[in-house]
Amino acid sequence: MLPIIDFIHTNRDRYVQELGTYLAIPSVSALPEHRDDTRRCADWTADEMRRIGLEDVQVIESGGHPLVFGQWLHAEGAPTVLIYGHYDVQPADPIELWESPPFEATVRDGEIYARGAADDKGQVFMHLKAIEAHLRAGGRLPVNVKLLIEGEEEVGSVNLDDFVRTHTDLLAADVVVVSDSAMFDRGVPSICYALRGLIYYQIDLRGTSSDLHSGVFGGAVANPANVLAQILAQMKDRSGHVKIPGFYDDVRPLADDERAAWKTLPFNEKKYRKDIGAPKLAGESGYSVLERVWARPTFDVNGILSGFTGDGAKTVIPAVAMAKVSMRLVPNQDPDRIAAAFEAYVRKVCPKTVELTLTRMHGGRPWITEYNHPFVAAAGRAIEQGFGRQPVFCREGGSIPVVSTLTEELHAPAVLFGVGLPDENAHAPNEHLDLGNFHNGIVASAVFYDEVAKVGK
Ligand code: BES
Ligand code: ZN
Repeated sequence: MLPIIDFIHTNRDRYVQELGTYLAIPSVSALPEHRDDTRRCADWTADEMRRIGLEDVQVIESGGHPLVFGQWLHAEGAPTVLIYGHYDVQPADPIELWESPPFEATVRDGEIYARGAADDKGQVFMHLKAIEAHLRAGGRLPVNVKLLIEGEEEVGSVNLDDFVRTHTDLLAADVVVVSDSAMFDRGVPSICYALRGLIYYQIDLRGTSSDLHSGVFGGAVANPANVLAQILAQMKDRSGHVKIPGFYDDVRPLADDERAAWKTLPFNEKKYRKDIGAPKLAGESGYSVLERVWARPTFDVNGILSGFTGDGAKTVIPAVAMAKVSMRLVPNQDPDRIAAAFEAYVRKVCPKTVELTLTRMHGGRPWITEYNHPFVAAAGRAIEQGFGRQPVFCREGGSIPVVSTLTEELHAPAVLFGVGLPDENAHAPNEHLDLGNFHNGIVASAVFYDEVAKVGK
């Protein structure tokens, strides 16, 4: 292992330069104007796979943004590791809040700033460089590897489930590795053993065929903006419980040992509150903050649009009102069941005075795993070598839709080892990645392949 680790240390600066090139491609999957950039990023990912010595590299059409696949299968008898990640990124707006351009990687104080630095190009690149180190410094890999890097994670991986279901032979592996999450805190590396799921809806209300003068008609018709506010206000009670009937039926209660383990994590509620700039934290009563974000489902409004919102005042009754809402789901909630319950409840509370349209958008199932698997222990040892400290076990509140599909379809465990930090502004202006964690992550990934080989099939 030593020559490989030496190789990684020697090439530190080159890695940062190359990552900068990757980050400069604006692969924003949500925006049609970046479709060609997103494809260019797929091609770049494939070229990089070829450069580092992966084989059978293909850019695969999936119906939307393409997938990139590559492999190296010459470790006969050794386990196969499938590495999943995404090359697409979130939109950069609001652009005026960036201190340096989002698609021009800038290093400041040991952090690399750019959209996608942490989520997820930096973490994908970490695995590519770990593989490169093995192939260049050792001439081979201790395990077989397959890489599946997609371009639609940030828009819900809508085409990926079908691809996985129809390509289980191509993707067959003994363990799935995903680096698309954060460490628990700076200096506290972690392994994530559960993700929340998601359902997402657009709610459209129409009151009249056109906007109306609010003096002439006010009092005679329903105002869809008012009605929307009333509907949204009925989604949760005052203690933060979601009021959709049946919403909590399948929520797996937190085990006592899990709750006890979380109490030992270095979590400082006051610092957490200050870091996010909230006057006071809020949420479902009876649960700690970590319980609320990791083990409890939520209902949130992600956006609202209606009526006049320009400068000054305009006396109008808007014809339409729209909201985007989502629910984070936890094990063992089923997205289809919750979606049906949500639709029935909204239809029930919505008055007949407006026309209601519900449009279901992307989503994903929640995922949880036992963490006493030998491959998870292998990751623990690798992280300890990379970061000088044993990882803690945590859940995450975010969603990676394909994880549950991969583990179910391939009958393989998943190890989620992320090197981002919770305060690195994923999805927000000034996203960045700590270069120390990036570097340690390359070492940990390289060691991980070795540790998986030691575990064997
Ligand atoms: N990397 C995140 C998921 C994540 C965030 C995992 C924080 C662990 C901690 C991923 O890129 C993401 O943002 N996923 C979306 C999925 C959605 C579009 C279906 C999310 O969680 O909103
Ligand atoms: Zn993301």
